[in-house]
Amino acid sequence: MLAQSDLIHMFNGIPFSTRVPRELLQSLDSFEAREDDVLLVSYPKSGTHWLTEILKHLYHSQQDENGGGSATLTSPIEFGDPSKFEELKNLLSLRLIPTHLNYKMLPVQFKAKKCKMIYIIRNPKDTAVSLYHYYRENPNLPKIEKWATFVEMFLKGEVVCGSWWDHILSWEEHKNDENVLILYYESMKKDLTKSIEQISNFLDVNVTIDQIREISRRSSFNEMKEEAQRENPALDHTVCVLTSNRGLIFRKGTVGDWKNHFTSEQNKLFEEQFGRRMNSSELAKSIEYES
Ligand code: A3P
Repeated sequence: MLAQSDLIHMFNGIPFSTRVPRELLQSLDSFEAREDDVLLVSYPKSGTHWLTEILKHLYHSQQDENGGGSATLTSPIEFGDPSKFEELKNLLSLRLIPTHLNYKMLPVQFKAKKCKMIYIIRNPKDTAVSLYHYYRENPNLPKIEKWATFVEMFLKGEVVCGSWWDHILSWEEHKNDENVLILYYESMKKDLTKSIEQISNFLDVNVTIDQIREISRRSSFNEMKEEAQRENPALDHTVCVLTSNRGLIFRKGTVGDWKNHFTSEQNKLFEEQFGRRMNSSELAKSIEYES
């Protein structure tokens, strides 16, 4: 079994997977962004794959016979070695670039060029539960046997990508930027059609209501889970640096699973920390915990 130090390293005080090399993190600011790059940003387990599936279908539906309007979903910006920046340069189509980096760590050119950024937020209790199961199932993460141990680590920010609170707060002052769209996992669960409409308006992608309905059907949890089971596991198919196995991504896809994990004491500690850290956060006010 691999030791913790083989799997995790610290950068800027944040735990990162060793699949996110220090060298690449150090060279992020040399990345050459383009005005039409679209960034898909999230704290891990917030619904990144769901969002990318929607975007993939949205751009696909507006592609013409000559390939115009096409977009390529890249690997996460922080995955691989710095030579990947050269490969990304050679992509001719619009680039959809996923990342779990917080706002401060994003390559400077994305900010300077005002690239469109979509940030998806999920309630932190379900996020913690989802990440806990990911730690248990994913051989690229340290083994954590007990939920009680994990919830403490989550509260201290001692998990991959660091503190959930810090991640969300890094976006606080950018929530109203014109090039930023904030989405909530729970709102997408409630009304996916409306969320797809919102995303297509933000990206200036023209789609009909029938196309939106079809995208909504194809990006439902069951459809995506079944599709992942049908896929060839040898193909690199995730937008998460922590695995290429899509089978590890689709677990329950629900709102409120935290109630099956948190004791009332853990919930109290969580609420206290939430209150302390997110007191003045507008982003936090829209977070929902129930379906
Ligand atoms: P659970 O572990 O709670 O099931 P990410 O893509 O950021 O890694 O997030 C993974 C989480 O999003 C998992 O949560 C997964 O089931 C959920 N998810 C993925 N696709 C989804 C979909 N189409 N609808 C709802 N939830 C989805």
